Amino acid sequence: MFKMSPVMEEIASHPARFKVVVAGRRFGKTYLSLMWLLMGYLRENERRWIILPTYKQGKLVAFPVLKKLTQQSPIVKTNQTELKFTINGCEIAIKGAEDSSKLRGSHLDRVVLDEYAYMKPRVWEEVIYPMMTTNPNSQALFIGTPDGFSNGFYDLFLRGQGQDSDWKSWQFNTVDGGWVSKEELARAKRNMDERIFKQEFMASFETAQNRVAYNFDRMKHIVSEKEVSATKFVGMDFNVSKMMAVLCCEYSDGTIHYYDEICLHNSNTEEMAKTLKDLHPDVAVIYPDPAGHARSTTSNRSDHVILREHGYSVRAKRKHPSHIDRINALNRKLLDANGKISMTINPKCKELIKDLEQCVRDLKSGGIAKQDLERTHALDACSYLIEYRWPVTVSRAFTKQW
Ligand SMILES: Nc1ncnc2c1ncn2[C@@H]1O[C@H](COP(=O)(O)OP(=O)(O)O)[C@@H](O)[C@H]1O
Ligand SMILES: [Mg+2]
Repeated sequence: MFKMSPVMEEIASHPARFKVVVAGRRFGKTYLSLMWLLMGYLRENERRWIILPTYKQGKLVAFPVLKKLTQQSPIVKTNQTELKFTINGCEIAIKGAEDSSKLRGSHLDRVVLDEYAYMKPRVWEEVIYPMMTTNPNSQALFIGTPDGFSNGFYDLFLRGQGQDSDWKSWQFNTVDGGWVSKEELARAKRNMDERIFKQEFMASFETAQNRVAYNFDRMKHIVSEKEVSATKFVGMDFNVSKMMAVLCCEYSDGTIHYYDEICLHNSNTEEMAKTLKDLHPDVAVIYPDPAGHARSTTSNRSDHVILREHGYSVRAKRKHPSHIDRINALNRKLLDANGKISMTINPKCKELIKDLEQCVRDLKSGGIAKQDLERTHALDACSYLIEYRWPVTVSRAFTKQW
């Protein structure tokens, strides 16, 4: 059931005490980690841990695999609640990094930090490393898919590329692992935004530019001379201070062009519906903020009801899409993994262009930062539409399990 690939052999047999493996999603990182954790003679009082970003991930992802691996030993004792196995007096346990105070202990002989980019660097520096100093032969494996430069993973990777013989690092893409075919990868590439594809499958450290529309490039996306096609619709965001509508047309090849925008200050949905009708009587379909089906910005009728009363066809999901889903869908439309641009903007759309250039991501959640009250409304309006019509769906083989 468990196979050792040549790549795994190379990593496992390397003499460095601290190994860093940067690899794409579904490379086989967790399997490799668990097999490495159990390798060699298991001595009494030895302690070997695999740490995942959260206890829950450990329970869902690592426990079933580790259980299968350890059941090959007739003398294993299993403690399911503590996610712990004992073989020959050697403790093999699964831990979550979210509460690092729970990780403190006397000694540790072998440790894996799986999905390391999603852990705080202090888990290693302040908690785990001190536990390893009692045994000079203790070993650590840092493994994971990259997530930008700002977490400690990139620094450890560089360390493994340097002259220190205690440290060694490797970088592999998903296909190198041997569990995902090139065809499957090509399919993912077509369906994903380029930066995310590079990060998740090519295991590359991508600049976390921190901009929501990180694929937006005014040189490429702002186009003035473009004929407006007959297929037209509107994206809309409701706010009292700044009511936004962006007008979009679609061409037969599936590309879209934002050809105009309406921005109303201290207004309401009623006035927006009327203004839209006056300025653009040929548009009948609106993709608004999904939250507007239940609430109203200024009236006792919901925003969606008001739009319908003005004869508009309102298209919105019942469930509010996550910021991340919207960001992914928007960026894929701006530039997909194959370098195709599927969205352009008329220079008239000043609010939209400002948002595409200036809206930034919230550092903690990765969502859209909402501090600046002037910003994000045009970006919201344009991305509700895109997320509804062109959502980013990732093949089930690639859904994040951890
Ligand atoms: N050594 C292995 N032996 C057998 N199957 C493996 C092995 N490594 C990976 N796989 C298969 O590939 C899938 C992904 O492996 P996993 O370790 O969860 O990837 P990652 O942690 O890199 O996302 C596993 O569910 C399993 O089906
Ligand atoms: Mg994994």
